[in-house]
Amino acid sequence: MEQQQSDAPPGTDFEESAAMATVLSSVEVGAIEVFMTQDHARLDGLLRLALPADGGIDRDVYEQFRRDLLRHIAMEEKVLLPYARAKRNGERLPVAKALRADHGEIARLLVPTPSPALIGALCALLGWHNRLEEGPGGLYALCDALAGKDGDEVVERLAAQPQVPVAPHYDGPLLNRT
Ligand SMILES: [Fe+2]
Ligand SMILES: [Fe+2]
Repeated sequence: MEQQQSDAPPGTDFEESAAMATVLSSVEVGAIEVFMTQDHARLDGLLRLALPADGGIDRDVYEQFRRDLLRHIAMEEKVLLPYARAKRNGERLPVAKALRADHGEIARLLVPTPSPALIGALCALLGWHNRLEEGPGGLYALCDALAGKDGDEVVERLAAQPQVPVAPHYDGPLLNRT
C-alpha cells in the first residue's frame, strides 16, 4: 500500500476518518452511518488538499470543501435530526443540542477568508464533532436504529439534499458579534 504522507495540521483526524469509512464499508453497519461517514472522509480529504505542503491554501479546493460541508450540515439539520425527532414522537435526541451548537460554530468558522490558523481550528472542531456522530451510540447509529429497514430511504433523502446558498466570505467588524 502506498505510504501516505500527512501534512495535516495538528489535531486533525483525517486518517482516522478515512480508516473509519473503510471499516464501516466492510462490516455490517447501517446505511445512514455508511453514507454519512463516507462523506466525513471525503470532506476531510478535501480539507487536506486545500492545505498544500508549501503552507498556502488552495482556495478552489477550500471553497468546494466549504460548500460541501454546509450541505453536509444541512443533511443533518434538515433530514436526520427532524427524522429522529419524528421517530421519537417529537422528542429530540439528547445529542441534538450539542450537535446544533457545533454546527453553528462550524458555520461561523466558514465565514471569514480562510487562513492556516482558521483551518486548524476547523479541523480540531470537526475532529471532536464527528465523534458525536460516528460509531456506536453516535448520531448516525441512532438514526439507523430508528430507521430499521427504512435506512436506504433516509439515505435517498440525504443524497437529494440540495446545495445550500453560500455567501461570500466576510472579514468585517460584525464577524465576532454573536
Ligand atoms: Fe454534524
Ligand atoms: Fe456529520
